Amino acid sequence: MGQPARNFILKTVVGMRRPVILVVDDEQPVREMLQVLLRDKYMIVAARDGKSALEAIRSGPVDLVLLDVNLPDTDGIRLLEKIKEFDNEIGVVMLSASDSAQQAVASLRKGAYDYITKPFDDEDLLLTIKRYTDKLTLKSEVDYLKEELRNKNGYGEIISKSPKMRAIFDLIQKVSITSSSILITGESGTGKELVARAVQSIGSRKGKPFVAVNCGAVPAELMESELFGHERGAFTGAHTKKIGKFEYADGGTIFLDEVATLPMHLQIKLLRVLQEKSFERVGGNILIKVDIRVMAATNVDLEKEVRKGNFREDLYYRLKVVPIELPPLRERKEDIPLLIQHFLKKHGRKCNKFVPGISSDAINALVNYSWPGNIRELENLIERLVVLAREGQEINYNDLPVGMFCADIEGLSTGEQKDFRDALKSFERHYIIGILNKTNWNRIEAAKEMKMHRNTLLAKMKDLGIKES
Ligand SMILES: Nc1ncnc2c1ncn2[C@@H]1O[C@H](COP(=O)(O)OP(=O)(O)OP(=O)(O)O)[C@@H](O)[C@H]1O
Ligand SMILES: [Mg+2]
Repeated sequence: MGQPARNFILKTVVGMRRPVILVVDDEQPVREMLQVLLRDKYMIVAARDGKSALEAIRSGPVDLVLLDVNLPDTDGIRLLEKIKEFDNEIGVVMLSASDSAQQAVASLRKGAYDYITKPFDDEDLLLTIKRYTDKLTLKSEVDYLKEELRNKNGYGEIISKSPKMRAIFDLIQKVSITSSSILITGESGTGKELVARAVQSIGSRKGKPFVAVNCGAVPAELMESELFGHERGAFTGAHTKKIGKFEYADGGTIFLDEVATLPMHLQIKLLRVLQEKSFERVGGNILIKVDIRVMAATNVDLEKEVRKGNFREDLYYRLKVVPIELPPLRERKEDIPLLIQHFLKKHGRKCNKFVPGISSDAINALVNYSWPGNIRELENLIERLVVLAREGQEINYNDLPVGMFCADIEGLSTGEQKDFRDALKSFERHYIIGILNKTNWNRIEAAKEMKMHRNTLLAKMKDLGIKES
């Protein structure tokens, strides 16, 4: 949250208006005394019976009611019920001449904030009121921040208006205040890391470390020391002590990306660390205690990996306390135009270039494409288009890379492609470009995914005229 928004909150919430207190008491001297005591800090409204109290509540904002239990036309507890029925958010402090435990308990059960016996100590009453209004200010601020985050086109950095993603935003909000493990699944590029960061950025661990580890990118033999650190001399080459990611993440979150690639012996160790919330560095014997939330992400079917014996079932359930499944972009096509605008602005700013927009036929083509590399693929494409675009000129259909669209493939199913060899070429072009986009045009990775030799891929690309635009 940037600075300007914060200033705005202070103005609108804390300095918005003085809290309004309604004093309900049939004795005029009591009403006057309370008015004098409170008027410096609060706006005071007074009522002498239940009927006028309800009128005052209905006619204007009231934050807190100081309510005498004995009133001429009703009893205070009955009135408390009516106030809460009207607006449960209004705080009520009961004032009573009798020190009756029964009455106090009944009031608190019906939702009173506090119960004070008369005659009361001024300081006590002021403190109770202050406690309540402080809570009110904090609540408004939190509500405001949550509202600010949840805008009509998404949630913070996450752009989406699809119902599936809206349900995920609700979940993010709910789990952010807990420390439960979260398993985020979804195809590559669907925003798994973005969601993990969103949970951290609003939750109770906000401002604490967020340490991301890509389990697939570190060689298996170095992974243990990467996660848990090592002592000097722990193994050949360990010349100095090393602090592991778990130690860095203490108090915050560790994000285990591509968790399915974690070797079996580390799955066992990870499970133990999750259970015991402590570990030893490699080659060490000091027990290091940590307070960590674990979020893990994977784009493979982890349940299948469990069945195949590649992933421990107990660890799977331990990680999957809260599962979040991100839908692929092709299942939320309504987000594509929004995301295009978002990335045009983002990369326009980054390249310091003004691109006024994108033509509607280009948008249609992009909406109809299947996006195997999901949002990352879309973002990479828009970035490329912005880099290549001429300042001030709209991007149009002809600027899009040739052959990436379903229209190309649609010709196959509608019979427009008559020649078998041409149809095959269309399919090959579409398929290869899809994988290349997914791997960010990394030929080696793409060839691996296609289970094809790299030279075959390069030859096919040449033959089919596939070039990175
Ligand atoms: N809903 C979204 N709104 C805006 N940007 C998004 C959204 N989803 C993803 N992105 C962007 O797309 C890119 C990929 O997202 P992210 O790295 O979170 O995906 P991922 O699921 O972790 O991918 P991988 O499985 O390949 O690691 C990032 O640049 C991210 O900012
Ligand atoms: Mg990722």
